[in-house]
Amino acid sequence: MSHIAYINGLYEPNKNALINIEDRGLQFSDGVYEVIYVWNETPVDYGAHIERLSRSLNELNIPAPMSWRSLTVIIKEVIRRNYLRQGIIYIQISRGVASRTHGYSREMEPSLVVTAKFTAPPSEEIVKKGVKVLSTPDIRWARRDIKSISLLPNIIAKQSALDVKAFESVFYKSDGSVTEASASNVWIVDKDKTLITHPTSRDILGGVTRATILKLARDAGYRISEHSFTLQNMHVADEVFLTGTTTFVMPVVQVDKHTIANGYPGECALELRDRYIQYIKDVDPVMAWNV
Ligand code: PDD
Repeated sequence: MSHIAYINGLYEPNKNALINIEDRGLQFSDGVYEVIYVWNETPVDYGAHIERLSRSLNELNIPAPMSWRSLTVIIKEVIRRNYLRQGIIYIQISRGVASRTHGYSREMEPSLVVTAKFTAPPSEEIVKKGVKVLSTPDIRWARRDIKSISLLPNIIAKQSALDVKAFESVFYKSDGSVTEASASNVWIVDKDKTLITHPTSRDILGGVTRATILKLARDAGYRISEHSFTLQNMHVADEVFLTGTTTFVMPVVQVDKHTIANGYPGECALELRDRYIQYIKDVDPVMAWNV
C-alpha cells in the first residue's frame, strides 16, 4: 500500500508529494520537525510534542503554518488515510520557498509536510539482551534544544554506531560529560539506585519521552537527579539506558569496550519500560489530542 502524505494543502501518495527545489528546508536545513508515536491510531504525548514544535518554531522565528487545531485535523487525516494503527507521524515545517540567499523575509509562508510510517519499537528480543552504544565527540551546534532538521552530526554518529553493530552513539563534550545520544536521551542508575539524566538546557533536546519517564519514575518512587555525568560514570554505573519516541526505554549493556554491571539489562530500565508501555496503552483516544 502506498503511503499518503500531506504537503502544503494536498494529500498525495508519498511518491507524488514533491517539495519545491527552492524550499529553504532543502537548501539550508532551515526548518524544524517532530516525531510522534502512534498507538491504536492515537498519538502518545501529543500535547508535549506540539508544545516543543511551537517552541522550536519560536526560537527560529518561523511562523506556525496554521493553528494547532488545523494541524491536528491534518494529522488525524494522515493517520486515517494511512490506516496507521502503530507507527510514527513525522511533521516537518520549513521556513518556506524563496530564491536562495542566506537572509530571509519575515513574510515567508512556511512549508508543512506530514508523513506516516509503519514501525514498531525495538523488539522484546533486542530489549532482553540489551544493546551496545558507541561514544563519539559531540560536534553539534550550541542549540541542541531546538528540534532542527539539520541533523548531519546525528546521522554520522548513528551510522558509525550501526557500522560496528552498536545501537546508538552517545555524545560527549570535550570536558568528558555526556549530553545525549544521536536520537535518544541517556540515563544512568548509580550504586544507590538514583536515576541520573542530563538536565534540560541548550546542550540536549528536551525529550518528550524523557519527561514522561521522569514522571513515571517519580510516581514509582525512584530517586532522581538531573545532572550531567561523564563516560567514566557510565562505565561504573549499575545501569545505563536510553529513552526516545522510537526507542521507548532501551537497556544498554555495553559502552564502547566496557560492559555495564553484569552485562544484562538492568531492572530499573526494564521496569520503566513496562510502565511506559502501560502508559501508552492507557492513553485515552479522545483526551490524547488535547494541546
Ligand atoms: N529523535 N535527543 C535527540 C538528539 C533526538 O533526536 C531525540 C528524538 C531524542 C528523544 O526525544 P523524544 O523522546 O522527544 O523522542 C533525544 C527522534 C525520534 C528522531 O529524530 O527521529
